[in-house]
Amino acid sequence: MTRTIEELIPDYLRGLPVYVPGKPIEEVERELKIHAVKLASNENPLGPSPKAMAAARAVLGDSNRYPDGGTHLLREALAERRGVSQEEIFVGLGSSELIDLASRVLLRAGLQGLTSEGTYAPFSVAIRASGAELELVPQREFAFDLKAMARAITPKTGVIYLANPNNPTGSAFTGKEFEEFLAGVPDGVLVVLDEAYIDYAVSMGLQDAVEAYRKRKNLLILRTFSKVYGLAGLRIGYAIGRPELLSAMNKLRTPFNTSGVAQAAALAALDDKEHVKRCIETNATERKRLSEDLAKMGFRPVPSEANFIFIVVGPDAKALSDDLLRMGVIVRPLGWMGFPEAIRISVGTAEENDKCLSAMARVILKRPGKGALAAR
Ligand SMILES: Cc1ncc(COP(=O)(O)O)c(C=O)c1O
Repeated sequence: MTRTIEELIPDYLRGLPVYVPGKPIEEVERELKIHAVKLASNENPLGPSPKAMAAARAVLGDSNRYPDGGTHLLREALAERRGVSQEEIFVGLGSSELIDLASRVLLRAGLQGLTSEGTYAPFSVAIRASGAELELVPQREFAFDLKAMARAITPKTGVIYLANPNNPTGSAFTGKEFEEFLAGVPDGVLVVLDEAYIDYAVSMGLQDAVEAYRKRKNLLILRTFSKVYGLAGLRIGYAIGRPELLSAMNKLRTPFNTSGVAQAAALAALDDKEHVKRCIETNATERKRLSEDLAKMGFRPVPSEANFIFIVVGPDAKALSDDLLRMGVIVRPLGWMGFPEAIRISVGTAEENDKCLSAMARVILKRPGKGALAAR
């Protein structure tokens, strides 16, 4: 047989992009020999809850044993908190695993997965990796065009991905807009609603999506411990969905997908309401200040409901990010997410944001026409 291993890789996987994470702080500091702040991956700048850290430390010594593969304690706590049964909770290796599993279980060649342009790239990757066709609907003013998305549904559509608030634009839709959208989705199409940043959308007065789930069971709600709970490094998140779907996802996941340390930390983090409140309040204050100061420089930040700010800076977005990097401020240029003229700045601590704003002020002075929108 003359076949090579490479030939076994299906065509639909060959063209897939590799996920490009934000530059690690250690790498920047090592390469440039400077102290850096990382505002590139929408992490929680205040860190994990002290209670979560204590809980993680307490079980570290059990790491010679496999963790609870059924994540019983955490599922029990989540079920109680969200008002659903334990069979309706699935704990995953971050919401990343849940995004992937939804497509792996439901899609295949001949079907279609639908999402928006300008949203979290792993949605498209999950759809394409399943062998299904990817259908992308353009955005309106940096937000999901839910009406156009509903119109784009065809008999081949199996899964639709939405993020509320959206990454990278920070925009969010209301409960009413979502209900109207859901009303146009046939029962046999799953809507994956990724709520990674929902805790930060304080001004929206959003109703709990579990209400919508109770009425329409073709909904899979994703939450993560990576953002407001500050546990991105431990890789843990969960889904709420119908037991039939979750049990199919359960068959495909790796046997011990989440570690005992992550489970213990997540359980304790859930209980530390004070820490969560402080993280949300600090983000709201700093997000407002960062947006206002960027606006004073002449930028027009998209109003953000998340823990990051999206700004169109012009065709030199990548060069501007590189300049900021050399000054020790890591932000995210967004060409790979379909916005070659934009950058995304995660909201940091007051000190980190000060450093970012002063670097930004210096960078725009260096631009040929000198100004925020000089290069446009
Ligand atoms: C919209 C969205 N969903 C999911 C994730 C990934 O979260 P997790 O760390 O839970 O895998 C991110 C991370 O930035 C995100 O922006």
